[in-house]
Amino acid sequence: SKKPVRVAVTGAAGQIGYALLFRIASGEMLGKDQPVILQLLEIPDEKAQNALKGVIMELEDCAFPLLAGIEAHADPMTAFKDTDYALLVGARPRGPGMERADLLAANAQIFTAQGKALNAVASRNVRVLVVGNPANTNAYIAMKSAPDLPAKNFTAMLRLDHNRAASQIAAKIGCAVGDIEKLAVWGNHSPTMYADYRFATVNGKSVKDTINDHDWNANTFLPTVGKRGAAIIAARGLSSAASAANAAIDHMRDWALGTNGKWVTMGIPSKGEYGIPADVMFGYPVTCEGGEYKIVEGLEIDAFSQECINKTLAELQGEQDGVKHLL
Ligand code: NAI
Repeated sequence: SKKPVRVAVTGAAGQIGYALLFRIASGEMLGKDQPVILQLLEIPDEKAQNALKGVIMELEDCAFPLLAGIEAHADPMTAFKDTDYALLVGARPRGPGMERADLLAANAQIFTAQGKALNAVASRNVRVLVVGNPANTNAYIAMKSAPDLPAKNFTAMLRLDHNRAASQIAAKIGCAVGDIEKLAVWGNHSPTMYADYRFATVNGKSVKDTINDHDWNANTFLPTVGKRGAAIIAARGLSSAASAANAAIDHMRDWALGTNGKWVTMGIPSKGEYGIPADVMFGYPVTCEGGEYKIVEGLEIDAFSQECINKTLAELQGEQDGVKHLL
């Protein structure tokens, strides 16, 4: 049988953690033949550490055959030791009266420390997914704080936006969501993201030609996907945790095990593709194979799409400028 791999998860006692850990431990993320050791990080606060203990008791009680070990940590320097995968879920939420700059600064502190810890103690090939918001900028900060690790191994989660877009399209067309191929989401994980179905197909047929309604695209589809998180908070009274955890599983599974040519969306550091400045943590369509992602290149960007991409890029550059002095 395979040697266990180490999976670190931060914010492990939070909402997303509760929807995520059991699926990682059951083999849904890295395969039903891959044992895992969970290295769970929470803030040192007694309440959070106690909650983490409770989650660990439940993980034990599932008797998952693939769960080869569970550790509780309060310090990223021990939580990330030798870790092969790191899911950075914990972040500072916006509190009452908190300005955007305060939020960026609080998270810059967290993700600088976690990037440095990964740099110091993680596996040299650790694959990092940042879920905690602002996800793209937090991933950028962690990447910049870990100069000895490959920059390409730092990614941000755009997969929830991708899955939300696929589901809206399937409902519009009346097709199975699994039959949609070649969907892309560009940019920031925020309402400015640009979900782009111009290249998408359903059973080989063009989604754009089938829908054939630019007004629906611009005035219904994009706002619905962009504001989906807020709609769920309004309905549920709590933020989307199960669907976010599901997207994190999808992201890591596809990265590790491959997509068989299927396009998925990942937030990754640009190397200049599609005119995005280098190092900007940007949502791109990718395919994955052999543990590596590859950007889908050569797609034509029309005027409407360029306008959308410019807008989400400007927002991201604003965030990244806002934390530059803290790095
Ligand atoms: P939550 O508040 O239920 O849980 C967050 C947990 O992280 C808490 O237990 C907290 O103690 C912990 N935490 C905070 N700072 C930490 C640190 N420095 N180290 C370790 N743990 C820390 O929040 P929830 O619902 O689980 O969401 C987590 C994050 O994911 C939020 O930032 C949320 O905005 C983001 N999110 C991102 C999505 C995406 O698509 N990228 C989708 C949905 C949520």
